[in-house]
Amino acid sequence: MRRAKISVIGAGNIGGECARSIAMKELGDVVLIDIPEKEGVAKGKALDIASCAPIERFDCTLTGGSNYEAIAGSDVVVVTAGVPRKPGQSRDDLVGINSGIVKGVCENIRKHAPNSIVILVSNPLDAMVYVAWKTTGFHHSKVIGQAGALDVARFRAFLAMKLGCSVEDVTALLLGGHGDDMVPLPNFTSVHGIPIRQLLPENVITECVDRAKQGGGEIVKLMGTSAWYAPSAGTVQMVEAIVRDKKRIIPCAAYCEDEYGVATGQPGKGLFVGVPVVLGSKGVEKIVPITLTGDEKALLDKSVSSVRELVGIVKKLMPEMA
Ligand code: LAC
Repeated sequence: MRRAKISVIGAGNIGGECARSIAMKELGDVVLIDIPEKEGVAKGKALDIASCAPIERFDCTLTGGSNYEAIAGSDVVVVTAGVPRKPGQSRDDLVGINSGIVKGVCENIRKHAPNSIVILVSNPLDAMVYVAWKTTGFHHSKVIGQAGALDVARFRAFLAMKLGCSVEDVTALLLGGHGDDMVPLPNFTSVHGIPIRQLLPENVITECVDRAKQGGGEIVKLMGTSAWYAPSAGTVQMVEAIVRDKKRIIPCAAYCEDEYGVATGQPGKGLFVGVPVVLGSKGVEKIVPITLTGDEKALLDKSVSSVRELVGIVKKLMPEMA
């Protein structure tokens, strides 16, 4: 049986860490691609990670370069290309520059890896998934955004810190866009089955919700650039669900029309927003419906409006995305 092939576009902090983690988990052979000016970085990181293999004991090949022909036959392509935010910037401030970068990358994916499943990581995430979908022309089940996996991990980590318990026992759910109005859901959060509200007072839960929403920004302030370990961990969790056909339920940016009332009765007017999906070898195999309270639905609607606004900006910048 052949090994899976996973290409990672963008050999920056997130791309490099994704490549390393994919190799460490032996999920498949890895191709790391960057622009010609950074070909040396892509090659160097691939070689550096490959040199860990005897110590970490993984058997996958890692190659780097700038020629997209190398991604042919990929099962999964992870797109991390684009500029990260700097202190004071929101993810949305990157829409102009990163739309063009992601479009260029996705033209190459369409050409060289037409049967792949594409995972977007570049920001502003929900709009970049839309650009990838339009540019590749792939079925929407094969174009997926990584955000919820990261955001919910942050939420779980912050709750576990408050509880002083293992993060393994904290499960949670989060919906909406990967922006400041993402929607962590305390009603769907528990600790080994115990509803979170039986363990923490409301103000502490709210503190964790707010910290999760601002989690990316907190790190940008500290480091002067975007986070990469947890974003990569979230991405690789998705890669694993796909290449091992695990059917995991993970919140991902998936294409919704009637689902969650994103564009009910408006075929073709849907958006990619964070919802729980079943992730397996076919990509998004199902969007899992849940029943929300009126307040939760209102928060989700607000987040969806922000995503719609951002996609509107993309369509203005690039009329071909309409
Ligand atoms: C974050 C970036 C990657 O949330 O969006 O850290």
